[in-house]
Amino acid sequence: MEETARIIINGATHDFPVITGTEDEKAIDISTLRGKTSYITLDSGFGNTGACASGITFLDGEKGVLRYRGIPIEELAGESTFIETAYLLIKGELPTQKQLDKFAASFTRHASLHKDMLHFFKGYPAAGHPMGLLSAVVCSLSGYYPELLKTDPTEDEIEIMAAQLLSKVRTIAAYTYRKSVKKPFVPPRADLRYIPNFLHMMFSTAKKEYKINDAVVNALQTLLILHADHEQNCSTSAVRLVGSSWANLYASVSAGVCALWGPLHGGANQEVVEMLEEIRKAKGNVQKFIDKAKDPNGNYRLMGFGHRVYKNYDPRAKIIKQRAHELLAELNIRDPLLDIAVKLEDAVLKDDYFAQRKLYPNVDFYSGLIYKAIGIPTAMFPVMFAIGRMPGWIAHWKEMKADPKTRIGRPRQIYIGPPKKSYVPIQQRQS
Ligand code: ACO
Repeated sequence: MEETARIIINGATHDFPVITGTEDEKAIDISTLRGKTSYITLDSGFGNTGACASGITFLDGEKGVLRYRGIPIEELAGESTFIETAYLLIKGELPTQKQLDKFAASFTRHASLHKDMLHFFKGYPAAGHPMGLLSAVVCSLSGYYPELLKTDPTEDEIEIMAAQLLSKVRTIAAYTYRKSVKKPFVPPRADLRYIPNFLHMMFSTAKKEYKINDAVVNALQTLLILHADHEQNCSTSAVRLVGSSWANLYASVSAGVCALWGPLHGGANQEVVEMLEEIRKAKGNVQKFIDKAKDPNGNYRLMGFGHRVYKNYDPRAKIIKQRAHELLAELNIRDPLLDIAVKLEDAVLKDDYFAQRKLYPNVDFYSGLIYKAIGIPTAMFPVMFAIGRMPGWIAHWKEMKADPKTRIGRPRQIYIGPPKKSYVPIQQRQS
């Protein structure tokens, strides 16, 4: 028998279909509720609202499960590469060697920026946050490829835009960094793979080529894979919402960069390291910061803890914590912030306040320590997240375009402003 849900309003009953997902997740389809009853549903922060059906990522926050296209994140982080994972997310299947080689070759073709684009970097203040520049330059790609700005781009056209975005985002990111440290840009090299090429653009100089270290490349590989998608999070929802108005892919993804920037989302990795630094200055007194976060009269939060959907340990944080320890050991770095992070996590996991609210370390808690060990400055951490999330944004935009059920995203509201009143000419207004 088909499952239905019944809503009773003022004695009248209304039945709604129940939708079941692959993993037996349930949703009540209330899309006809307003038409039938004139009522809407209200769900601040969309904590309980599904905006679409998606075949990209499965997440069970209660059990700490995350899979891309069915494949557990632990397997991808251990065995795949970022490029292969990007292909999987965007195309839906793991590639054959031939498909992967073609995909990777398109990145080499699209790595450089149009020379006129360099003016954007010149005009941006060196101390300006790199996410502002990243978002602006990503959006402005639309001005350089007008032939691709179609309402319904073909599969081939989407593939070109995807390759451009995935490849150019690391060039833009590296140039953003070079601008911030007032150093000349280092162009991409055709002979280098994705991550070594990024490190080369970040850290090589005219006199000295950056020495590629496998441990660094592997750590970044893991981080990028773990950031590649996370279903309907704030930035991906922003991409889908903007794209639902038929805005082009560059503009939609640029909105994703802006949404990611916020400290409650991808900006948290920067905030975590700044918080750990503050704790270090307070002589490692983690309890002081825990007490501040628990104070009901304040709004201070422990950055890198808590998640809207994980009510268990974030599976990404588990892997990243291990990689942070491994990388620091391999590079022979003793970072006091790692010890403080472990101490803070231990204290938080024993604390009733955090246990009752099911607050665990999230993806941003340990990632910054890896970036820091590589020599990437804190303001660039959200940019690193954006490089990683690019495949997810593209995959969701593509899925949204192909879904015949997609309508322009347009939530409703309950109006709580003043009732109707008349306009008063300025001369008659009381001061
Ligand atoms: N420190 C202290 N208390 C917290 C924290 C935290 N990091 N996170 C949530 N809480 C508390 C809230 O104060 C609230 O307490 P209350 O019930 O007494 O009012 C309760 O836990 C529930 O919190 P909400 O804000 O309702 O949870 P929500 O799902 O809306 O927010 C969020 C999730 C934004 C991630 C939140 O946990 C947070 O601010 N964390 C810190 C920022 C962070 O690390 N963001 C990165 C998230 S991962 C990502 O986006 C990539």
